[in-house]
Amino acid sequence: MTHVVTEGCVHCKYAECITYCPVACFREGDTFLVIDPEECIDCGNCVEACPTDAIYPEDELPPELQPALEWNARLAPLLPLATTRVLPLADADHWNGTPDKWLSLPPDQAPVPAPAG
Ligand code: F3S
Repeated sequence: MTHVVTEGCVHCKYAECITYCPVACFREGDTFLVIDPEECIDCGNCVEACPTDAIYPEDELPPELQPALEWNARLAPLLPLATTRVLPLADADHWNGTPDKWLSLPPDQAPVPAPAG
């Protein structure tokens, strides 16, 4: 099993989660992080750390966030390791809680198949 980052992270990238991860499982996109399912040890430390409640154990993903499984697994090998030097995006608080943020991503950074909007 793995934990997964979901849509709430997009355009926020608060980066609190990285500090709580005992292994190197977070990968950094331009406007979000994902978790490498090959590295995650399912400790769950990151869940409480995220201000947007964007991280779930895969077996607790609500139906509308299921695209996150494919999203994390596909992008993690393509993205660089996220370090503790990552800073929250400048307009993170503006985007926190905004719906349908996945739909704002370029196609190569969005979940496939696209989530219902
Ligand atoms: Fe994203 Fe939450 Fe981490 S917004 S960067 S999953 S603390």
